Amino acid sequence: MYKAFYGLTRNPFDITPDPRFFYGTARHSEALASLYHGIERRKGFIVVTGEVGTGKTLLARCIFQILKQQKTSFAYVFNPLLPVVEFLQYATKDMGIPAAGKTKGELLAELNRYLISRYHQNSTAVLIVDEAHLLTWELLEEVRLLTNLETAQQKLLQIVLIGQPELDEKLESQNLRQLKQRIALRCRLEPLSFEETQKYIAVRLLLSGAKERNKKSRRASLR
Ligand SMILES: Nc1ncnc2c1ncn2[C@@H]1O[C@H](COP(=O)(O)OP(=O)(O)OP(=O)(O)O)[C@@H](O)[C@H]1O
Ligand SMILES: [Mg+2]
Repeated sequence: MYKAFYGLTRNPFDITPDPRFFYGTARHSEALASLYHGIERRKGFIVVTGEVGTGKTLLARCIFQILKQQKTSFAYVFNPLLPVVEFLQYATKDMGIPAAGKTKGELLAELNRYLISRYHQNSTAVLIVDEAHLLTWELLEEVRLLTNLETAQQKLLQIVLIGQPELDEKLESQNLRQLKQRIALRCRLEPLSFEETQKYIAVRLLLSGAKERNKKSRRASLR
């Protein structure tokens, strides 16, 4: 009912991260550009961190749109609480590689073949792991080993780890120093400032069909 009252065509504040509502603050736009260039330049390892609700998953969804447009192959793991083999099965399957019933060795061999074929097509593949602060030490080590899939010039698989600030802390630990060394790019999302929040609300309302005149008619109806 409130949609009709305010003349809106859709809900302006749905919790689901929807790229149509992306509001590019300087930081968000910079993070999106860094992610894109990191992938395009085959940097290998990219880490994006930020507090709860700062737009990390939204950023991931924005990058999916770009990757889809470019026909770049990618896998999105949104729940990394998986044993190693299941993680690899999930990731490879999501990339379109048949994975059912395969052992770890077979999966890695398939993935390698696939990445080389992508390389020959002058393309790449991207593995995006959301909630990466939940990755076990064992899986973090496996993910690091995936960056060994490379040619002399470039990484064949681009890996994007997205997580809460605990991920940064985890990456600082002594037993992950090898992984830390391989990180080519790091971005940090921050909460919106007061001014950004005001604009963000206005933009979401506009994108949901709110019109300037509604402000006036609302004021009039409140008098
Ligand atoms: N820059 C932005 N533009 C538009 N909407 C945003 C922006 N940042 C956050 N949001 C919105 O805030 C909500 C939370 O965003 P999102 O789920 O992406 O956060 P998150 O960082 O992934 O949180 P979590 O750590 O809980 O996974 C979503 O509704 C999302 O659309
Ligand atoms: Mg999220």
